[in-house]
Amino acid sequence: MVCRNAYINVIDIDIDDDTMPEYAVVAENLTKVYGEGSLAVHALRGVNLKIKRGDFVAVMGPSGSGKSTLLNLLGALDRPTSGKVYIDGVDIYSLSDDELAEIRAKKIGFVFQMFNLVPRMTVLKNVMLPLIVNGVPAGEREKKAQEMLELVGLGDKAHRRPLELSGGEQQRVAIARALVTEPAIVLADEPTGNLDSKTGAEIVQLMKRLNREQEATFVVVTHDPEVAQETQKIFHLRDGVIVKEEEVP
Ligand SMILES: Nc1ncnc2c1ncn2[C@@H]1O[C@H](COP(=O)(O)OP(=O)(O)OP(=O)(O)O)[C@@H](O)[C@H]1O
Ligand SMILES: [Mg+2]
Repeated sequence: MVCRNAYINVIDIDIDDDTMPEYAVVAENLTKVYGEGSLAVHALRGVNLKIKRGDFVAVMGPSGSGKSTLLNLLGALDRPTSGKVYIDGVDIYSLSDDELAEIRAKKIGFVFQMFNLVPRMTVLKNVMLPLIVNGVPAGEREKKAQEMLELVGLGDKAHRRPLELSGGEQQRVAIARALVTEPAIVLADEPTGNLDSKTGAEIVQLMKRLNREQEATFVVVTHDPEVAQETQKIFHLRDGVIVKEEEVP
């Protein structure tokens, strides 16, 4: 475990000019190779990007272009082969595994295509899980989780189990779980991929509202041009590199 003071010191020390906290996320020359020798897959071949604090951006690209690999590296879920990721100015891959886990738990929220909820637990318990990981006292956990469920419009379904909800409702639970720790960054990998287009559009509007209200930075991987058009900027990925950065009017 890292003590709170050590954590703050890490943040103080590692900030440098190029990565000032104007940017929530910076990737520099990021590469990722899976496997070795003749089996090596070059999933990322030198990705550079900067995402401003509070932005809502999309990552698009063909299947296999490296979108999930990139998202996992921006979210401290894996380590790159080379290159750097700065989260709020901190060079995260210079940190130990424990420190990295702490950044992941405190600063980052994840939303997945398949919702990834724990089926045996109630909706409320699912949303409380990250607070347990972060050591939030028991009394506060339930209150925070309930508030977050109200915010996504599911206050009255807290005691249901995930499979008793519709797909869109399950994704709203997953979004509540991602945001309950008040992360600086929310990373969503195809969050509308398992939803019909109307429900998908509602989920995007919910994320946009939370982006404004909670001031979290959102990075959304999507195949859907209609979803991407709702963001501020689209990073187009092809064969492991960003080939275009498109401002959305
Ligand atoms: N754990 C792994 N081991 C080996 N190869 C992997 C692994 N994960 C991904 N890859 C490979 O890396 C490349 C990029 O994969 P990635 O999952 O990042 O693509 P993607 O853009 O998210 O695709 P999709 O749109 O299908 O989700 C692909 O060629 C994939 O087969
Ligand atoms: Mg993927």
